[in-house]
Amino acid sequence: GTAQIGVTGLAVMGRNLARNFARNGYTVAVHNRTAARTEELVSDFGDEGTFLPASTPEELVESLERPRRVLVMVKAGAPTDAVIEEFAPLLEEGDMIIDGGNAHFEDTRRREKALRERGIHFVGTGVSGGEEGALHGPSIMPGGSAESYDALGPMLEKISAKAEDGTPCVTHVGPDGAGHFVKMVHNGIEYADMQLIGEAYQLLREVGGYSPAEIAEIFRTWNTGRLDSYLIGITAEVLAHTDAVTGEPFVDVVLDQAEQKGTGRWTVQSALDLGVPVSGIAEAVFARAVSGHADLRKASRHLAGPTPRKLPADDAATFADQVEQALYASKIVAYTQGFHQIAVGSEQYGWDADLGRIAAIWRAGCIIRAAFLDRVTQAYDAQPGMVSLLADQGFADETAAAQDDWRTVVATAVINGVPTPGFAATLAYYDSLRAPRLPAALTQGQRDYFGAHTYHRTDRPGTFHTLWGGDREEIGT
Ligand code: 6PG
Repeated sequence: GTAQIGVTGLAVMGRNLARNFARNGYTVAVHNRTAARTEELVSDFGDEGTFLPASTPEELVESLERPRRVLVMVKAGAPTDAVIEEFAPLLEEGDMIIDGGNAHFEDTRRREKALRERGIHFVGTGVSGGEEGALHGPSIMPGGSAESYDALGPMLEKISAKAEDGTPCVTHVGPDGAGHFVKMVHNGIEYADMQLIGEAYQLLREVGGYSPAEIAEIFRTWNTGRLDSYLIGITAEVLAHTDAVTGEPFVDVVLDQAEQKGTGRWTVQSALDLGVPVSGIAEAVFARAVSGHADLRKASRHLAGPTPRKLPADDAATFADQVEQALYASKIVAYTQGFHQIAVGSEQYGWDADLGRIAAIWRAGCIIRAAFLDRVTQAYDAQPGMVSLLADQGFADETAAAQDDWRTVVATAVINGVPTPGFAATLAYYDSLRAPRLPAALTQGQRDYFGAHTYHRTDRPGTFHTLWGGDREEIGT
């Protein structure tokens, strides 16, 4: 065969990745379960490069040079397993199957292991950037063996987004499920970013008294500063949009029930398993869940609370600046939590992930791309073993400068009855880390009281238990 890569599954993501490879000079074999999609791709975009349409998996495999690279772009879950089972028997030792869907990393670990035993490389790969990214340059997070990256990496580097300094937004994240794990956390952070932006909007509207169009302008201004990011940019676009049917702001006619495909939820489930506090990300997932429980919300409308008091115009402008501070500080914490999860996951699964490289490949192409990630990259470059993003002096200084406003914003939200779970949870995390003493000591006392669960002391080593039901003598064990 002569094709350097084969793509099976030509829905929009698969089609656009195939086009991206072809536009970069690769010969791309293409296959889809229903052949019409394959024909459509070739007739609509055949002039962009060299496509070899295949009507069967056998034909696709035959048209590939060795080692064969088969990129699977089908729905996560059972459909992915089915396609793998179709292709694996046709492949030879050293060939690779690349899964570019949003698979759960545990599925990827299972598939990688099973295929490794059959001599086939399985490369679970995170791909971020939506349809546009897939076509013009996504951020790519491949896992799998180092050997497979040797054969695949250069091609991915070619089609990936490039950071401002020209670095391709792709790196070998680590073996087996590392790529999909990191993509999962990317999405968890994406949920947090979106929720925090949503809270900022709600406060500007209900307390600041601004209209959606005015808030769009505020976001546009923020987007020229340290909050410069894809998500802030599109938020301004959405807020400025007017519904054609009613003439109302678009944001006022959309049903306020957020949906999800599950990657944010997976992030939190994994964080719970790993014991990593990702409260900002978790609140973002829960906020979507709250919004979706329409009956519960309807049945709760009568509950008492303040009516938000809109600020006079002069104070509103000051408040907007404070909200910017809160949003930035909360964002730092959300990323701190996400990177912590990657560090612990990497340790747990033995991936040796390089946090600085991960920040670097998120600088362009992906949904959470932002000027901010340049800063994160620099922070990890300066201190590779950094225990927390907040250990970076620059971020510590920025949260120090923001914290008064951050507290004011959370307090203002509470007083006005505007829910800001993301701002509040990230601030509580920040204060928990700072606190010289936590009430965890009391928790330990309670556990020892009702269950003789024992505790440690601050002043000497050992494990202790107090005889709470008796004379309260302390015994060391
Ligand atoms: C990306 C996105 C993408 C994700 C959508 C929808 O990085 O390109 O994360 O992979 O599927 O954003 O996610 P939800 O439906 O869960 O909001």
